[in-house]
Amino acid sequence: MRSPISHKTSIRTISTLILGMLCCYNCFSQTPASNLDEAKVPPYTLPDVLKMPNGKEVNTSQEWNKIQRPHIYHLYEENQFGRYPAKKVAIRYRLLETDNGALQATATRKQVRIYLHPTDTTVFTDVLMYLPNNTKKPVPVFVGYNFTGNHAIQPDNGILLSTSWLPAKAKGAINNRATDSSRGVESSQWQVKEILSHGYAVATAYYADIEPDNPDGWKTGIRTTLKDVLNMQPEEWSAIGAWAYGLSKIYDYLQKDKDIDAGKVALIGHSRLGKAALWAAASDPRFALVISNESGEGGAALSKRWYGETVKLITERFPHWFVAKYKTFGGNTNALPIDGHMLLSLTAPRPLYVASAEGDTWSDPKGEFLSAKEASRVWALFGKQGIDAGSMPALHQPVGNTVRYHIRGGRHDVTLYDWQQYLQFADKQWK
Ligand code: GCU
Repeated sequence: MRSPISHKTSIRTISTLILGMLCCYNCFSQTPASNLDEAKVPPYTLPDVLKMPNGKEVNTSQEWNKIQRPHIYHLYEENQFGRYPAKKVAIRYRLLETDNGALQATATRKQVRIYLHPTDTTVFTDVLMYLPNNTKKPVPVFVGYNFTGNHAIQPDNGILLSTSWLPAKAKGAINNRATDSSRGVESSQWQVKEILSHGYAVATAYYADIEPDNPDGWKTGIRTTLKDVLNMQPEEWSAIGAWAYGLSKIYDYLQKDKDIDAGKVALIGHSRLGKAALWAAASDPRFALVISNESGEGGAALSKRWYGETVKLITERFPHWFVAKYKTFGGNTNALPIDGHMLLSLTAPRPLYVASAEGDTWSDPKGEFLSAKEASRVWALFGKQGIDAGSMPALHQPVGNTVRYHIRGGRHDVTLYDWQQYLQFADKQWK
């Protein structure tokens, strides 16, 4: 006869084995590697954007504004992007340069330095603006960050060369700094003439003015330089949180510029800067219209849908973009209490445009579409029509109303086609 002790031991061994098998099963079921085969997408369940913490469904816009929106916003602060600075710090600014004969005299160029620290003048971001000449002011504006410095968005020698850190692989960068050969390298992504032709201004800043985009960037970026001013520790927020805050500060300036219609500021962001734009729009209601251009994982796409980039992969490669807690969902997105449709919902009821590209499978175009469609339920609470389409539209066939979506041919990029859709969208909302 076996002793009670050995019996207990064998029960423990068996339970350890079962637990081990379960864990193992879990590892496989949460396959962290990337999938690009639609047939292999396993079933997934999204958190219901309208289900309040008490289990009841949101029925009115008041319930949304009072209960559900703050609840979801808080989940984002806690799990993905970190706290948004609560303290209001007034900006100071200085006009660095202006020329009313820019772009063959069709535009006025302005370059403005925005100081983010109350006393330290080394903490700033430079904003480049083009305003249409021959258009009655104030004008609406499209604002967004660029990837390579302001001088990269247009081959215009009047643009001051950025002096901020640049990734080594950026075109024209030497020793992580811009050179003249990086002028205009990003101009196809900024269709300045097209924007001006609709009577809109454009304003842009280089995102690394705020925080260099690398895991050590926080050491020299605003998460450190504004630590005492904002009364926040660097690890309480993230690089994307910092970039989003920078956009709010740029808005603070735009509001003071008498040539700008502060009620019509459209915020645009591509890719990682699309994630930042969505978080800025969620955090700052003054942005009146929002455009997510291929923001993908951690942005418009659905993390629980196993296709393209995953939480695990993004947090391994770009740990600084998010708070540390986000990484803990890498092996288990089921436990994530949020998903892309909820980030989008935080822009409601403002006009929102979500765009994908066929060749940008990494961003999961279908996930972006499904997310925008699901989020549309929130616009409905405000009597606004989002996306009704039952399935993915064909290429170059935008769908939806106050929430709009398109997928175009081509790769991960911002193209003339994309801009044409955004400008028409803004015209429809504002003219
Ligand atoms: C990487 C990253 C994406 C991001 C993109 C970009 O591909 O994995 O999440 O959107 O860079 O910013 O271009």
